[in-house]
Amino acid sequence: MKETVLKRFEEVFGDRNGVKVFFAPGRVNLIGEHTDYNGGHVFPCALTIGTYACARVREDKKLRFYSMNFEHLGVIESDLEDLKPEKEAGWTNYPKGVMWAFGERGFQIPSGMDILLSGNIPNGSGLSSSASVEVVTGAILREFFGFEVSNQDLALIGQFSENKFNGVNCGIMDQFAIAMGKKDHAIFLDTADLSYTYAPVKLKGAKIVIACSNKKRGLGDSKYNERRSECETALSELQKVVDIKSLGELTQERFEQYKSAIKDTTRVKRAKHAVYENQRTLQAVAALQADDIDLFGQLMNASHVSLRDDYEVTGAELDTLVEEAWKVEGVIGSRMTGAGFGGCTVSIVKDEAIDRFIDQVGRAYKSRIGYAADFYVVEVGDGPAVL
Ligand code: GLA
Repeated sequence: MKETVLKRFEEVFGDRNGVKVFFAPGRVNLIGEHTDYNGGHVFPCALTIGTYACARVREDKKLRFYSMNFEHLGVIESDLEDLKPEKEAGWTNYPKGVMWAFGERGFQIPSGMDILLSGNIPNGSGLSSSASVEVVTGAILREFFGFEVSNQDLALIGQFSENKFNGVNCGIMDQFAIAMGKKDHAIFLDTADLSYTYAPVKLKGAKIVIACSNKKRGLGDSKYNERRSECETALSELQKVVDIKSLGELTQERFEQYKSAIKDTTRVKRAKHAVYENQRTLQAVAALQADDIDLFGQLMNASHVSLRDDYEVTGAELDTLVEEAWKVEGVIGSRMTGAGFGGCTVSIVKDEAIDRFIDQVGRAYKSRIGYAADFYVVEVGDGPAVL
C-alpha cells in the first residue's frame, strides 16, 4: 500500500521529494450507540482498514489535495490563509477543518501542503471514514510541524473541527476510537470524563463481520443533530426533578422513577434509549471480561431493538441485515453500528458460520432490498502511524 500511494503521489504532484506516508484506521462500535453525547459509555475499536496519506510541505501557503477515492475530482486547491467550509470543496473540508482547528488551538501552520489520500474504508458506510481523515490530518500536522499534541488531543481537535467547521454535532467516540486504537483491544470509554480502559477482544472462535448496507448517508443531512437536541431537551426536563448533568448518570430504575417529567412521548423514548443503552454497555463489557460471549451477543441484539424502536435510527436496510443475521446459526449477536440511517451492521459470527452468514444474509438482503450488501471480516488494529 505504501508504494501504491507514493507512486500515485508522484504521478499527481510531479515527484516524491520530502514525502512521508501516514495511516489512520477506521472504527467499528461494538456497543454503546448514541450514548457519547449523553455522557454515557461506548465500546468501539479501531480496524486494520483505514486511510493512507502521503504528505509534504510546500514553500508557499497553498494546499493541494487529491483523493484516490474521488479521482474524478482531480486536484482540489485551497489556501491556508483562507480556510472556510465550501460545498464544492467536497471531502477536503475534513482536512481543511482540522487545519483550521489547529489554528484555533493556537498552533499556527507555517506552510502549505500537498496531500494525497487513499482509503480502504467504504465511504459513508458508518465506519468513520471522515474521522479517519481528520485524525490522519492531525498526525500529518504533528509530524511535519512538531506540534506538541497527544493522540487524545488529535481526537478532540478532530471532533472540534467536525462540530465547528463541518457542522455535524458528533460526539467524541469516532475520533477517540481511531486516535487511541490498540490492536486486538476495544476501548471502554466514559464520555463524561474521557476516562478509558482497554479490553481484549477475545471472541473464542468467532470474528467480527461488518455488513455494509450500501445505503449512503451523510451525517449532516441525517437526523443526527435532531436526535441530539431531543436528548438535550429531555435532559433539561429531567433536571427540573433530579440533579443530573447527563442522561448517562441515570440507572434504568431512576429513569423510570423520573421519566414523567419529560413532556413528550417521543422524547421519553429517545432518553430511554440513551439511559438503557449506557447500562447495556456496562453489562456488555463485564460480560466480555467474564468470557460470557453469549451474553455479550444478546446485549448487542437488545441494543439494535432499542435503536430501532426507541431511538428510531435504523431503517429497512439495517433492520433487514440484522433480522437476517439473527436467523443464521452461529451468529452470536448482530446490530447496527455508528449513527444509523444506513451504513453498516456489526455481527459476531462463529468461524465455521462465516461463509454461510455471508451467503444467507447477502441473498436475503438482495431479494428484500433490491441491491447487494458488502461483507467484511475485520480485524482490530492500532491507532495512527507514520509508515
Ligand atoms: C456517529 C457520531 C458518534 C456517535 C455515533 C452514534 O458515528 O460521529 O459521535 O454519536 O454516531 O453512536
